Amino acid sequence: MRTQVGIVGAGPAGLMLSHLLHRRGIGSVVLESRARETVEGTIRAGVLEQGTVDLMVETGLGDRLRREGFVHRGTELRFDRRGHRIDFHALTGGRAITVYAQHEVLKDLIAARLAAGGDIRFGTRVTGLDGLDGPRPVIRHVGPDGAEGELACDFVAGCDGFWGVCRAAIPEGARREYQRTYPFGWLGILCQAPPSSEELIYARHERGFALISTRSPEVQRMYLQCDPEDAVDNWPDDRIWAELRARTEAEGFRLKEGPIFQKNIVAMRSFVCEPMRHGRLFLAGDAAHVVPPTGAKGLNLAVNDVFLLDRALGAFYATGSSALLDGYSAAALRRVWRAQHFSWWMTSMLHRFEGASAFDDRRQLAELELVTGTVAGATLLAQNYVGLPLGE
Ligand code: FAD
Ligand code: DHB
Repeated sequence: MRTQVGIVGAGPAGLMLSHLLHRRGIGSVVLESRARETVEGTIRAGVLEQGTVDLMVETGLGDRLRREGFVHRGTELRFDRRGHRIDFHALTGGRAITVYAQHEVLKDLIAARLAAGGDIRFGTRVTGLDGLDGPRPVIRHVGPDGAEGELACDFVAGCDGFWGVCRAAIPEGARREYQRTYPFGWLGILCQAPPSSEELIYARHERGFALISTRSPEVQRMYLQCDPEDAVDNWPDDRIWAELRARTEAEGFRLKEGPIFQKNIVAMRSFVCEPMRHGRLFLAGDAAHVVPPTGAKGLNLAVNDVFLLDRALGAFYATGSSALLDGYSAAALRRVWRAQHFSWWMTSMLHRFEGASAFDDRRQLAELELVTGTVAGATLLAQNYVGLPLGE
């Protein structure tokens, strides 16, 4: 089997890359270890930057997003039992974010690829990469029936997430990894209830961070800071509601509750692998970098990577020039490090750190006052949250 671009992983990075390349007439095959239903049913991120939304709309993926996504022109930071609105729209020249779940983006991408005759091999696990230093790399894989196979291609896009195999195909001496783990995780829930607020609420509280988000008029998404080693079994519904109520308490606010039908705990880390390219292998998305979710940047960074990679591959096939391919890693990493800083900053400002002193608490509150109480502070948060234009 052979194709122009062999793509490992059918997450946001891999599927969006396949979609963008197709629009240029460049062929690709996507190899994905999980089943289609699992990919389409895994609950993850929910916030799309303006640039991600614009790209989806411009490339024909905007129908359901426009109908079912929620455009938010601001967000609330809540601390000391008071809410403070950050007005994205006013502070960024009219930009906004859209709340639309990651698995809905994936459903739209898969439907678009299949409708266009795209080749996505679900249940196909990649086991290794060969020949990355030459012009004909090969991707080794095992299919759903256990049969081994090879995909020969011009380029490999490693879009297989943090736990994938592509990053490890870069020899250790040729990559450098930067990492930070956090002493907390998030317990995420989905519940059947009406929205409690028109915009997201990021709440800093002595008991820990809480986030109120949404999915639809009937389904809400909420998160609680917790021990990353904790198990969801330790979190019966009553305990979750008691914590959410306590952490989001504010005058005139009433949390709307309802049956919880999904719970999961995610650990939090910051991670970057440099460079994002080795020979004919190009890493994109979580395969190369992970951010803590507080800044809602993970999915959006993956989309920016493949926006750059598509442009670079397009230039190569159109003109034979590898200048953009050669510049891909540096261009992508500029935004990656900016998002790393933003995500670390939001996380540090809003979470409770074990062993924090009274001084640390006061300093954290002073920072939140600075961000919510000054135009300069609020603009810094707003501009980074809605995101730079794609490619910058
Ligand atoms: P992924 O979405 O991880 O996709 C990689 C794909 O590669 C997967 O489908 C995987 O099955 C496949 N794959 C892996 N190995 C192989 C192999 N050997 N062969 C074939 N296929 C393979 N971000 C936020 O902003 N907010 C959130 O609330 C949030 N929650 C998250 C919760 C979890 C549990 C995780 C893991 C991430 C979360 N993120 C969140 C981050 C965000 O979801 C990711 O940044 C985003 O999914 C990155 O997309 P990607 O395409 O790079 O990788
Ligand atoms: C959601 C996830 C995030 O990480 C975030 O910062 C905001 C919202 C969500 O899943 O809705």
